[in-house]
Amino acid sequence: MAAPSVQAYLHAHETKPLLRFITCGSVDDGKSTLIGRLLYDAKRLFDDQLATLEADSLRHGTQNEKLDFALLVDGLAAEREQGITIDVAYRFFDTDSAKFIVADCPGHEQYTRNMATGASTARLAVVLIDARKGVLTQTRRHSYICSLLGIDHVVLAVNKMDLVDFDRSVFERIVADYLFLADQLGIARVTHIPMSGLDGDNVTEPSLNTPWYEGPTLLAALEAAAAEQGEAPDGAFRLPVQWVCRPDQHFRGFAGPLLGGPLAVGDAVVALPSGRRSTVAGLRVGTEPVERAMAGQAVVVALNDEIDVSRGDVLAAANDPPEVSDQFGVHLLWMDAEPLKVGRNYWVQTGTNRVGGRVSEIKHQIDVNTQDHLAARELSLNAVARVDLELDRDVPFEPYARNRDLGSFVLIDRQTNATVGAGVIDFALRRAQNVHWQAVDVNQAVRARQKGQVPKCVWLTGLSGSGKSTIANLAEKKLLAMGHHTYLLDGDNVRHGLNRDLGFTETDRIENIRRVGEVARLMTDAGLIVLVSFIAPYRSERRMVRERFADGEFIEVFVDTPLAVCEERDVKGLYAKARAGEIPNFTGISAPYEVPEQAEMVLKTVEASAEELAEALVSVILGDGGEGGIRTLDEATNPILP
Ligand code: ADX
Repeated sequence: MAAPSVQAYLHAHETKPLLRFITCGSVDDGKSTLIGRLLYDAKRLFDDQLATLEADSLRHGTQNEKLDFALLVDGLAAEREQGITIDVAYRFFDTDSAKFIVADCPGHEQYTRNMATGASTARLAVVLIDARKGVLTQTRRHSYICSLLGIDHVVLAVNKMDLVDFDRSVFERIVADYLFLADQLGIARVTHIPMSGLDGDNVTEPSLNTPWYEGPTLLAALEAAAAEQGEAPDGAFRLPVQWVCRPDQHFRGFAGPLLGGPLAVGDAVVALPSGRRSTVAGLRVGTEPVERAMAGQAVVVALNDEIDVSRGDVLAAANDPPEVSDQFGVHLLWMDAEPLKVGRNYWVQTGTNRVGGRVSEIKHQIDVNTQDHLAARELSLNAVARVDLELDRDVPFEPYARNRDLGSFVLIDRQTNATVGAGVIDFALRRAQNVHWQAVDVNQAVRARQKGQVPKCVWLTGLSGSGKSTIANLAEKKLLAMGHHTYLLDGDNVRHGLNRDLGFTETDRIENIRRVGEVARLMTDAGLIVLVSFIAPYRSERRMVRERFADGEFIEVFVDTPLAVCEERDVKGLYAKARAGEIPNFTGISAPYEVPEQAEMVLKTVEASAEELAEALVSVILGDGGEGGIRTLDEATNPILP
């Protein structure tokens, strides 16, 4: 049992307002020194940091204050050298009236994504400027990222004032320049302070060197911001459901963090995206039953009606719910070395929701240094762009400016599971709202029955000249002779019509496959057996197409012919041209082909004749003769395996 005084301390500590802020600048601006000075002078470092500091000073055999400070700064700089600050370093400290979490991120352009990570949790930014240099390109970049991520209060730390003799006119010129920038970026509040991190001028104590300055010290400005933060209104409650407690658990309900609030027993709630309504029957914070919960608490809510709510849904105030949509205008920061491709499928994670989605259009890229708009076809590492995002289903959301939790998302690569992008939702695209799926009476089953067959999409993938079209053509003739209804979609042919606007860049191939996948899907829905002969070189798009079909309806067939053989055959003379450098992005020569990992069937054209392979393909397509239901993949007869 803790002593009462400790408890009182902990309680005071608990109720003190918390401010999360980010420091923007680089080592050259004196950032490490400034943070070191702030932490050191506040003398209220969290225990582990203090312990490290004390251990360090003991090791160096001195308690000299100047040296302790130097050690702390050295420590911060050392982290940078070791590359630790390539990630975001979070530091904690507190004073009598507030506690703070500082996100310290490297300032160079190649670390834009790290800065964005830090800014996304911050309410205020300390933007450092070297008094000798004034507003620089990097100041513009830092301020832009902050404004993009919803920071509307900047403390402008005009540092190294000692090196300009604490000259008031220098300070005022810099402030005027910065206010102009802040205005352009929509940063509502700027608190400007002349300081010297090295000597501590206006960091925690007012400086005698700036008698002309009457504003707050850095620490006082931060404390004032923390106090305001504590008073901020919460807004209507939202509860992103993190998990559903099962009935056999002690309390049946829906658990998650309460954003906004308060929430009380009896309140009317709506579950989104379903739109079902109910009222709060019971409420817990942790395991404690309560009548009322406040914003920021982790709660479990029980409802008076048995409505369907699953992980990823949002429970919200019935009289002021968030919107629901599947298409958005967003700002996206690309964070992967591999560029973003329009149309490629990623996981989109918003809050606890993970749904399939893709960027449907890049409106423009934004130069983070000048805020100019640039045309772009793809996005490379650290690029920021305004793009349209479409999801596979509706999700509850709010514009980021209104709610950071429900207004932000990350993109996740579906093969590597790495986070490749992060963004903020600006608004929903209205076009999504007014298009509804039309239910029709004559459906696929009726059409298939009329034709006496099980509809399939049979996708032959492989290098150019591997024999896809030859085998597909033979297979179609056999099916036709047996009375089946078929269609053959061939890459070269479709590229003369529907896809004649597309070339062979990665982005164009993605769109090529998307369109043909949709056409094949419509044809399968019409009850046909559809043979598709397209190179389709990327796993990601083959998977995207597969996911558009029911289980067992999509058969991926890898026509496996070694590149050397295709090149030797060179039926269309394209390999010779590609080798001569006359055809750019030629699959197998200057563009990749990703070998299928999950093909239902592999056809090795060097081991059997096209006739034999077509025969084997037809037997897999028809399964048990076409009468029975859809066969599962492992039941497929006679697949030729690698
Ligand atoms: S895909 O990669 O987008 O699926 P698709 O199957 O439509 O390709 O078209 C491939 C056909 O286009 C090839 O059979 C070949 O005749 C022709 N072609 C022209 N340029 C290229 C190229 N750069 N790479 C591959 N095929 C090409």
